[in-house]
Amino acid sequence: MEAVLPDPTRFAGKAVIVSGAARGIGEGIAERFAAEGAKVLLVDVIPEVVETAARLGQVALVKSVTDRDAGEVMAKAALDAFGRIDILVNNAGIGGSKRLMESDDALIDRFLDTNLAAVLRVTRAVVPHLPRPGGRIVNISSIFGITGYPGTTAYAVAKAGVAQFTRQLAGELAPEGILVNAVAPGLIATPMTTGHRQNALYTRLIVEGTPVERMGTPADIAGPVAFLCSEDAAFVTGVVMPVDGGFLAARHGKI
Ligand SMILES: NC(=O)c1ccc[n+]([C@@H]2O[C@H](COP(=O)([O-])OP(=O)(O)OC[C@H]3O[C@@H](n4cnc5c(N)ncnc54)[C@H](O)[C@@H]3O)[C@@H](O)[C@H]2O)c1
Repeated sequence: MEAVLPDPTRFAGKAVIVSGAARGIGEGIAERFAAEGAKVLLVDVIPEVVETAARLGQVALVKSVTDRDAGEVMAKAALDAFGRIDILVNNAGIGGSKRLMESDDALIDRFLDTNLAAVLRVTRAVVPHLPRPGGRIVNISSIFGITGYPGTTAYAVAKAGVAQFTRQLAGELAPEGILVNAVAPGLIATPMTTGHRQNALYTRLIVEGTPVERMGTPADIAGPVAFLCSEDAAFVTGVVMPVDGGFLAARHGKI
């Protein structure tokens, strides 16, 4: 049977905010929502987001999610452009952290602020504008927020925090009809992982250790994110869904 994807009407009339959308996974998520009929605000700290949004026929905002007013500015930009906000995707993040004993205070602060605290602050500012019922939030965690992997300590701790934030908030917002879920990607080919992909040990552990025997693509993450925001997922909340080619479930026996 041939897949009929994407569905150009699935998110018609909906407005979506995607952070970290200039490139990589966030760009893939924005592209998927746009292809399925949504209006999308692409937010990023790098000005390339303007080009990405233009390519998709959508709206850009150059803003760091770490700015204390980021959530308010993002919400206002989406409301000014679309008059509503239905879906928030907290995707912006930084990679490349280190072992604890090589992590100075600045590194720890940067990872916990960008990859965790900013997610809480932005979400707190956007939630009042989401429809009740019907609002959806998807956070991007990581397989390294679920299993240990030496060498990415502050990153992994932040991503575990994102997973727990997802469960906490799901309970807090379910009575209001807002669903909160997370996706935990495996190794995805994006600018963030270019360096990792040149590291032979990492590639052997992660790529060869993945049962489907390939890296993921931004589109592999965008599909599950869209599913979690669709009516098909109306009874799904508080879930942290690994999208990792089977890495967490059954790390390949060859390794
Ligand atoms: N690529 C992977 O293998 C992988 C695996 C698991 C989780 N993730 C997560 O997926 C998300 C996207 O990662 P990616 O691989 O596409 O990375 P990427 O570096 O290719 O893209 C991340 C985007 O976020 C933006 N960003 C960074 N800091 C920001 C800030 N303060 N404010 C606004 N935007 C900011 C960057 O400019 C960039 O455009 C991240 O949260 C990452 O931790 C990635």
